[in-house]
Amino acid sequence: MRIGVLTGGGDCPGLNAVIRAVVRKGSEVYGHDFVGFRDGWKGPLESVTMPLDVGATRGILPRGGTILGSSRTNPLKVDDGVSRIQSNLASLGVDALIAIGGEDTLGVATALAAAGVSVVGVPKTIDNDLGATDYTFGFDTAVQIAVDAIDRLHTTAESHHRVLIVEVMGRHAGWIALHSGLAGGANVILIPERPFDIDQVCAYIEHRFASHYSPIVVVAEGAQPKEGTMELQVGELDAFGHVRLGGIGLVLEREIQARTGYESRQTVLGHVQRGGTPTAYDRVLATRFGLHAIDAVHEGVSGVMVALRGTEVVRVPLSEATSELKTVPLERYEEVEVFFG
Ligand code: F6P
Repeated sequence: MRIGVLTGGGDCPGLNAVIRAVVRKGSEVYGHDFVGFRDGWKGPLESVTMPLDVGATRGILPRGGTILGSSRTNPLKVDDGVSRIQSNLASLGVDALIAIGGEDTLGVATALAAAGVSVVGVPKTIDNDLGATDYTFGFDTAVQIAVDAIDRLHTTAESHHRVLIVEVMGRHAGWIALHSGLAGGANVILIPERPFDIDQVCAYIEHRFASHYSPIVVVAEGAQPKEGTMELQVGELDAFGHVRLGGIGLVLEREIQARTGYESRQTVLGHVQRGGTPTAYDRVLATRFGLHAIDAVHEGVSGVMVALRGTEVVRVPLSEATSELKTVPLERYEEVEVFFG
């Protein structure tokens, strides 16, 4: 068999571990050949490929990013996108595809599978917001990077008696904020699932200073104030119609300083959370996903995604993968509120 591999959407630590596992087992155990598609769906859409064999994947396990490149190209928004992909796959002699991506990349994979393309999906996102899997690789690394930053911010906050606000990624899910805020000992955590009350946030800050410590506020980029309480700017949309988030940290910095009188500074962690080497947990999960994905392709299975359920890797229908966004349940958020203030 000749198998195409691509990585789409925002990159995340662990992508190379998946590619390595797919190619290693696929070549050495099953005797398949591989084609690397460059830059997400742009690769099969425009027939942009690179050689992909065991040699090309040596040494990439600890490397961040993706050797294949990535993009947010959406072939479903391009005229004849699906049929162009089908004819490019046929000319390259590609029998099946492994698509490694989040909600958007796997949404395209779902449409291709419905059109008869043989495709298996592997979930990835630092946001951990895919409903069909307990965890995605990349999340653990992003949380660890945020926790390292919060640990450092505590000491400088204390020295200057400042409020330090840390804006983290996660899109419309608060998982990165919740986990990094809890592990980093934040005094307030704000997530998109629970619109915040700025008066309550300021009350937590006053309370923290009253105990002679400086507060750290962890805010998810998608967090929102309660309706009508604060102005927010709306960002532009990407090819999949997602709004570009970011900026809530700065809004909070100004608002908190104006309301409490305490000097406030924001830190936006941004793409640092997606860069660099994956944690051991993410390397293991990504490798296991890769091994199970190549098994599925080898067995001739299509239209499925590998997923983590408890400690087992299972197969779920691709359509299920993208049908539900996994957000933070309110009771999980309420569990940590005891540490606020
Ligand atoms: O989905 C992953 C993610 O990093 C989100 O947390 C963030 O909102 C978005 O991607 C950023 O996208 P871009 O890399 O296009 O700026």
